[in-house]
Amino acid sequence: MSRIFVTGGSGRLGRSVVAGLAEAGHMVISVDRDAIPAEQLPAGAEQYAADLLAPGEAERLIRETAPDAVIHLAAIAVPFSAPEDVIFSTNTRLAYAVVSAATDAGVPRIVTASSPTALGYGSPAGWLPPSFPLDEQTPPKPWNAYALSKLIAEQTVQMFAAAQGNKIRYAAFRPCYVISPEEWEGALTQQGHTVRERLQNPALSAPALFNYVDARDVADFLDVLLDKMDAIPNGEVFFVGAKDALATAPLAGLFPRFLPGSGPLTENLTGTRPAFSIDKARELLGWEPKRTWRTELTPPFEGEDTAAEEETEQAALNDEIPSGLVPAGATKETP
Ligand SMILES: NC(=O)c1ccc[n+]([C@@H]2O[C@H](COP(=O)([O-])OP(=O)(O)OC[C@H]3O[C@@H](n4cnc5c(N)ncnc54)[C@H](O)[C@@H]3O)[C@@H](O)[C@H]2O)c1
Repeated sequence: MSRIFVTGGSGRLGRSVVAGLAEAGHMVISVDRDAIPAEQLPAGAEQYAADLLAPGEAERLIRETAPDAVIHLAAIAVPFSAPEDVIFSTNTRLAYAVVSAATDAGVPRIVTASSPTALGYGSPAGWLPPSFPLDEQTPPKPWNAYALSKLIAEQTVQMFAAAQGNKIRYAAFRPCYVISPEEWEGALTQQGHTVRERLQNPALSAPALFNYVDARDVADFLDVLLDKMDAIPNGEVFFVGAKDALATAPLAGLFPRFLPGSGPLTENLTGTRPAFSIDKARELLGWEPKRTWRTELTPPFEGEDTAAEEETEQAALNDEIPSGLVPAGATKETP
C-alpha cells in the first residue's frame, strides 16, 4: 500500500482515480479547490480543499501528508473554456508548482496528466500526422493554449527527470476522451453530449479522432504505472485509451469524411481499431484496458455495428488461412 497524493481529485477523471486507487488498497490524499461530497469519498481516502496556485500551498500539503507518489490532474481541462492566456498560465503554473513541490519534498514517484490534443489535431490550418495509428513517436504540434500547456506539463516532468537522474521517477500520460461511470448511463460527457449521441453521430466524436477511455481504466493504468515506474526509463509519456474506437463503423471509412487527405493514411484502421495506439503501455507496463463502450453502455447500443462485424469477418478469414499460406512478413493477428 502506498500513500498517493492526487491533485484534481474532485474532477471527472479524478473521482475515478481516487476511488480506483483506494479500492486497490492505497491511502489516497485528494487535493482540489472543490471538495468531493463526503458521502462519495471512498474509504481509504482523505481530502483537502486548497487552491494549488496559492503561494506555498502545494509544498505545504505535500510535506504535511508525506506521500509516496503524486499524481497531478488539476487543470483547466477543456480547450477554449477560458481565455487562452488564462488556460496557458493556469495549467503550466499548476504543473510546475506541483511537480517542483513534490521534487523538493523528495517524493519518489511523480506523474502528470497530459492530453492527446498535444498532437495538434483539429487545427483550423489543417493537420495530418505522418502515419496512423498515432503513438508516442507522432510529432506533437499543439495549436492552442490548452494543448501547448499539456505538452509543457510533459516537458516539466522531463526537465525534473533530467535534473534528478533516477533518484526520483517521473512520467506523463495522455488520457483519451474520459468517460466516467455515470456517463455510460446517460450523463453528459465533457463536450456536452451523451456517449450514445457520440456513437450515433460520428461528427460529434470526430474532433477527438474517435478516441475515448473509461475513467476506471485510467485508474488501473496509474496503479500499474506507479508499481512499474522504477523499472522503466525515466520521464516516459504514455497514451491511455480504450482498445477500440468510439465508433460503430471502421475508422478507415470515417476518417476521409472528417479529416481531409487522411484516406491513404487510415486504410489500416479496419474493424474496431482505434486511431491511437496503446502498445507502449502494453509493452512497457503490461497494462490493458478492461472496458469498452460495447461492454459498458447501459442499456447496450442496439444500432448497426459494422466495425464489430468487420472485425469478426477478419478474424474468421484469418482462422481459415492455413498457416503455410500466410505470406512472409504477414501475421494472422487481427488488429
Ligand atoms: N477529461 C478528459 O477527457 C481529459 C482528456 C485528456 C486529458 N485530461 C486531463 O486530465 C486531467 C483531469 O481532467 P478532468 O476531465 O478530470 O478535469 P476536471 O475539470 O473535471 O477536473 C479538474 C479538477 O482540477 C481542479 N483544479 C483546477 N484548478 C485548481 C487549482 N488551482 N487548485 C486546486 N484544484 C484545481 C478543479 O477544481 C477540478 O476538480 C486534466 O489535467 C486534463 O487536462 C482530461
